[in-house]
Parts: sequence; structure tokens; C-alpha cells
Amino acid sequence: MSKHHRLPATVSALAADGPHTDAAEGTLAGDVMRGLSALPKQLSSKYFYDAQGSRLFERIMRLPAYYPTRVEARLLRRHARALLAALTPTGAPMELLELGSGDGRKTLALCREWLKAGASLCYRPMDISAQALERLGQRAARQLPALSVHPLCGDYFQTWPLPQARRHQVALFLGSNLGNFTDAEANRFLRRVRAHLRPGDSLMLGLDLRKDPSTVLAAYDDPEGVTAAFNLNLLRRLNRELGMDFDLAAFRHYASYCPLQGVARSFLVSLRAQSVHSRVLGQSFGFEPGEVIYTEQSQKYERAGVEAMASQCGFALHAWFEDPELPYALVVCRAKA
Ligand code: AVI
Repeated sequence: MSKHHRLPATVSALAADGPHTDAAEGTLAGDVMRGLSALPKQLSSKYFYDAQGSRLFERIMRLPAYYPTRVEARLLRRHARALLAALTPTGAPMELLELGSGDGRKTLALCREWLKAGASLCYRPMDISAQALERLGQRAARQLPALSVHPLCGDYFQTWPLPQARRHQVALFLGSNLGNFTDAEANRFLRRVRAHLRPGDSLMLGLDLRKDPSTVLAAYDDPEGVTAAFNLNLLRRLNRELGMDFDLAAFRHYASYCPLQGVARSFLVSLRAQSVHSRVLGQSFGFEPGEVIYTEQSQKYERAGVEAMASQCGFALHAWFEDPELPYALVVCRAKA
């Protein structure tokens, strides 16, 4: 995985948190060997974010059809003061740890509001991209010199700072990145976050919610074809990094949304019978016409499920801020004793 580009939080989280049961697991080569030998074939969405994939994801976030980024930013603006009150009820000084901050644009705007409201605040953006953190530091120094910013580069759980006696730790995990985990991964991730917090510390999640299925589907199948290019770019990456010979014109992006499970899924469909070889793996993989590679899941939540998941992982749901037009939530949880 490239460490030189802006990666969404999920990628950092998976890099830090992926299952490690044998030496090759968690590496591109091992995951691809296993994923393309499985039925159905699958590849992890954590491999989307090479340089080109990161650029395409930036474009996705600006697409009219891709509502999550826009709606989350709107919620953060609208509820900045109420969020502050919910996150630090006693008004204690706060250490804000953002898991997968990237360039931190949205969070800096939130910090500006909180400083105006008189909050005592130290911002600790965490990301595996040193470049993104450097840009964040420069932006913060320019736009918000009063804010104390201490970036942490690397795996969240290895760089997590020791708590300070009088500072309330607040972890942020935004962008509905939790939705790219399976339920088991999300559980494991939240439990690890909880293990690093003290009782009474807080966690804020940005989560996409269930809504009109056509709205969700359109977000993963935009008419401009940017999401299709983002999905197909995974094959380009495998050609480059594993010496594979995928013909990108012989695969098509396919997105689905299941309103019963609340899951958007992305696939790459083989348009003909074909065999793809990897020089690095020394292995060929056969495809039937119409056979799919499952590349991503994006879970859409509902309140009862979030409450249950939080509780199982050692958190109590404390406050819920929801967009009235396009269901999306900022969820404040408190670490239970
Ligand atoms: C990063 N993640 C939350 C995005 C999502 O909505 O699942 C990734 C994405 N995939 C296609 N479009 C956006």
C-alpha cells in the first residue's frame, strides 16, 4: 500500500487492524492470491487508494450523486456547538484524536467554531499519510494559528497517545468509513478504540443511514463514471504491482444496493471468458463470462443497530445528530466503565 497519498480512514484502519493469521495475509500479493482463488472472487477495497485511486476518490467526494461527504460537512457546521457540549459535558479540556484525518479540512472548520466557543482544545490528527499530515499542519498554521496541533503518523493503535490526567480524549471516525468494514471488522475496530479510551471519554462517528434505495445506488453508480473508474483502477494497480495482464475493457463496474441489509456493494464483472496471469504470483486465474469480483461493501446503518453495536463494543450512545433531508448521522458515544 502506498504511504504517499491521502487515504480514507478505513484504509489506515485496515492497515492497522487487519487480520494477521499468516505471514502473507494483509499483503497485496497474499490477499490477491486468496481473493482471486475464492468463490465468489473478491478483492479488498483497502487497495483502491494508490495515487490514481486517491485522486479518483477526491473526485467522487465532489460528485453531485455522492452525498455522504456533503451531508456530513453540513451536519458538522450546523451542530458544531451542540457537538462540543455533547462531547465534553463538563467543559474539560479536550484532546481530539481524529482517526484517518487526511488533510483535516472539515475538522479544522469544527475546531474554529469550538475555539470561538471558548473550548480548550488540542487536535491530534492521525493518518498513515505523512504528506496529508504535513498539508494539514500547514493549513492549520495558516488558518487557525491559535489551535495546538500535534499530528501522529502511522497505525492508529500503535501511535495512540497516553491520556493526560485532566484532558478528556475524544476520538473521531468520520466519513462513514466504518461502513467499509464487515460487521466483524467494525466490532473489532470499535473494541480496540474502546480499549484505548478511559470510561467517560468520547467517540464520534459519521455514519451513512438507510434511505431511498435509488439515492444510495446513484451514489455508487454515478453517470459521470468516476466510481466505475475508481473500481476499475484496482485492476490497473494489480497489473502494475503484481505483473498482471487484466484487460480493463473486459471488465465492467457494477453496483447494487440491498435495502433489506442496507448494504451497497461494488463488483467488477468479467465481460467474457478469460484468463488473467500474474508474473509475481506465478498464477493464472480463470473467469467465466458474467463472473464477478466483489470489491467493496458500504454499510448503511439504522439507529437501533448502531446503538446495539456501540453497546457490544463498550460504548453508550449519548447523542445523535441527523440530517433531516438525507439521512446521515453524527453519533456521539461515551466509553462505558
Ligand atoms: C471511503 N468510503 C466511506 C467510501 C464509501 O462510500 O464507501 C468509498 C467509496 N466507494 C465508492 N464511492 C465511495
